[in-house]
Amino acid sequence: SDKKLWGGRFAEATDRLVELFNASVGFDQRLAEQDIRGSLAHVAMLGQVGILTPDEVGQIQEGLRAILADIRAGEFEWRLDREDVHMNVEAALRDRIGPVAGKLHTARSRNDQVAVDFRLFTKEAALDLAEKTRALRAVMVGEAEKQLTSDGGEPIILPGYTHLQVAQPILLSHWFMAYAAMLERDEGRFRDAAERMDESPLGSSALAGTPWPVDRHATAAALGFARPTANSLDGVGSRDFALEFLSACAILAAHLSRLSEELILYSTFEFGFLTLPDSHTTGSSIMPQKKNPDVSELARGKAGRVFGNLMGLLTVVKGTPLAYNKDLQEDKEGVFDSYDTLSVVLRLYADMLPKTVWHAGATKAAAARGFSTATDLADFLARAGVPFREAHEVVGGLVGLASRTGRQLWDLTDEELRSAHPLLSVDVARSLTVEESVKARQSYGGTASERVREQVEAAKAALA
Ligand code: ARG
Repeated sequence: SDKKLWGGRFAEATDRLVELFNASVGFDQRLAEQDIRGSLAHVAMLGQVGILTPDEVGQIQEGLRAILADIRAGEFEWRLDREDVHMNVEAALRDRIGPVAGKLHTARSRNDQVAVDFRLFTKEAALDLAEKTRALRAVMVGEAEKQLTSDGGEPIILPGYTHLQVAQPILLSHWFMAYAAMLERDEGRFRDAAERMDESPLGSSALAGTPWPVDRHATAAALGFARPTANSLDGVGSRDFALEFLSACAILAAHLSRLSEELILYSTFEFGFLTLPDSHTTGSSIMPQKKNPDVSELARGKAGRVFGNLMGLLTVVKGTPLAYNKDLQEDKEGVFDSYDTLSVVLRLYADMLPKTVWHAGATKAAAARGFSTATDLADFLARAGVPFREAHEVVGGLVGLASRTGRQLWDLTDEELRSAHPLLSVDVARSLTVEESVKARQSYGGTASERVREQVEAAKAALA
């Protein structure tokens, strides 16, 4: 291995295990594009303010571009003894153009270098996940619209649950729009995070700024940042931009995990609400009948990693004094992992949901069971002037009776109903269908098809 770029004060060679432990090039080579973009902006600025001559700038830029071409072509030799992406690129530049390469690092430190590289990466990742989240949301809205008329022209009705006990009937489209609403906020969180991290730390140098007359506004603008960071200690020492990205990832992963759980449950033989497409399910090596929801199970399981990446970096950051500490090298892998994981899950669900077949007969039958229209019966009495609490008590008694005798509300006799309350009858009990229950819920944001259609139309307009 060649002499370290920082080797001046060292007499003894680095221990081999230390070299291995210290090196980040195995993963931070993923920042190569950002690193070279940062260096190109830095060297151009050094030329503009007269720190380097136009000839020096030209040689360095040409060398960096050639290195970038090698990296893109897969022809670059990444060396562990050169520790990280920054020193691999700089050492390769020296191999290529000679000692003038050493002028690139004027007025710069690896601390602001890595901070700018990683911000560029994370900002792009946040905007990319915002787009992918939006794409899945568009699929959800499309499904919501489709399912408004998919049961022979009528909307598909689903049991709505609380505590996983049947609560009230809802439209399947309403359910889809609930996930669309979550995804809308998820997209917003990525965009907000991208906007807040839109500041360039380049020129903060090691921690205290630099005596060189750098133009931080110029490099910030050249790299597409809104402005430079205002404080050099903060610029090199803070990773809350990555934490915010990881938080947005964790919340999105939680939403996708809830969706996964519902799909897994609803695809079981016992529920039978839906059939997942063959293209997105797998078989068993021993049980010929199996069709397993692996995609959803993995999406649910991977939420654990994505949460872990957030918790991991929070824990790394919490005990570190200002400004840079090598602990912060631990900031990258979790961000890469959460980004890659969610990119795939978002794509899989965007492909899978339109190919999922819902079984309207099964969902409607399930929606009718479990006394799902008991609230409607109580509302019927309350509309006739019975105080709602009293109506609740009356219907609760009927539910108890029906449940003890293995019946539904519509199976109760006229006498049973009338003795619970004189306003009740078999006609009343039978008029309380799941369709009527849904239709009645006309409140803003409610499950009546007109209200759901409004949600769909608003979402489509927002997505257009
Ligand atoms: N590989 C390092 C990291 O990812 C780059 C910054 C190193 N700075 C330093 N002073 N050792 O954090």
